[in-house]
Amino acid sequence: MADTVAVAADHGGYDLKCVLLPELRALGFDVLDLGTESREPVDYPDFAAAVARSIEEGRARWGVLICGTGIGMSMAANRHRGVRAALVHDGLTARLGRQHNDANVLVLGGRVLGPELAKDCLKIFFATPFEGGRHARRVAKFSPAKASA
Ligand code: RB5
Repeated sequence: MADTVAVAADHGGYDLKCVLLPELRALGFDVLDLGTESREPVDYPDFAAAVARSIEEGRARWGVLICGTGIGMSMAANRHRGVRAALVHDGLTARLGRQHNDANVLVLGGRVLGPELAKDCLKIFFATPFEGGRHARRVAKFSPAKASA
């Protein structure tokens, strides 16, 4: 079964969300589009929370969040347990966010990145595995303990 990616944007990220949805589908992911659906102003924390909840509830393995700069979305998303959101600007931060930080949410700035650079970030992020090792120890130091059964 294909992994599901939950995607959401505010009005500052709406145009880029429209560009990235088909890219994600072409990469073979199931996409859960959680809005927004226009350039009408909305509040980015509501959309960060929707993606975070879908991950925490197991409806999605990954997330993509887009606002104007990516800053608000990354701040809001990282308040949620189970989310490791990486604000990514280029191929290097996309790769290292996965290799070193095991990011499960890619955050992009719709007013910062052009569509081709954003597509590159998306592809690199989802093609790059976590390196584990010393990075796993560091990630564990800021990760909430899993509830025991
Ligand atoms: C909305 O105008 C803008 O503040 C938002 O998209 C984002 O950039 C916040 O960090």
